[in-house]
Amino acid sequence: MTKIPYIIWKDEYSVDQNELDSHHYRMFEIINELYELLGSLDSDEKVMALLNEAREYSRTHFEAEENLMRLGQYPGLEEQQQAHRGYVKTLAILTQESMDNVSVLSEDLLLFLKKWWLNHILTIDKKYVPFLKEK
Ligand SMILES: [Fe+2]
Ligand SMILES: [Fe+2]
Repeated sequence: MTKIPYIIWKDEYSVDQNELDSHHYRMFEIINELYELLGSLDSDEKVMALLNEAREYSRTHFEAEENLMRLGQYPGLEEQQQAHRGYVKTLAILTQESMDNVSVLSEDLLLFLKKWWLNHILTIDKKYVPFLKEK
């Protein structure tokens, strides 16, 4: 049974960079895939695989994003790096907690992912849009 998506992509989240938009979109998909597993039994391996993917994919995205910011000489790079680092730390802590509570994917983790990505894209990422615009 498919649940209603937990986090839904909207065009207004676009940062006018195809590559970065596709990364953000994929993160939304990963979060929805995790949500599908919430409360389901026998899904430990899938949950762990998806949490690993969430971590790795985020890392890839942050690297690409920070590189583009460097190229665009974006003055808010430092703020971005701090936000990205904070996310990586919190995700690691919440992932560890999920692993400690065998077969319980924590709702806190999902809520964190959803809130963080929505808030980060809309407030912090959006600020670089005028600097990174393709000329
Ligand atoms: Fe981003
Ligand atoms: Fe970012």
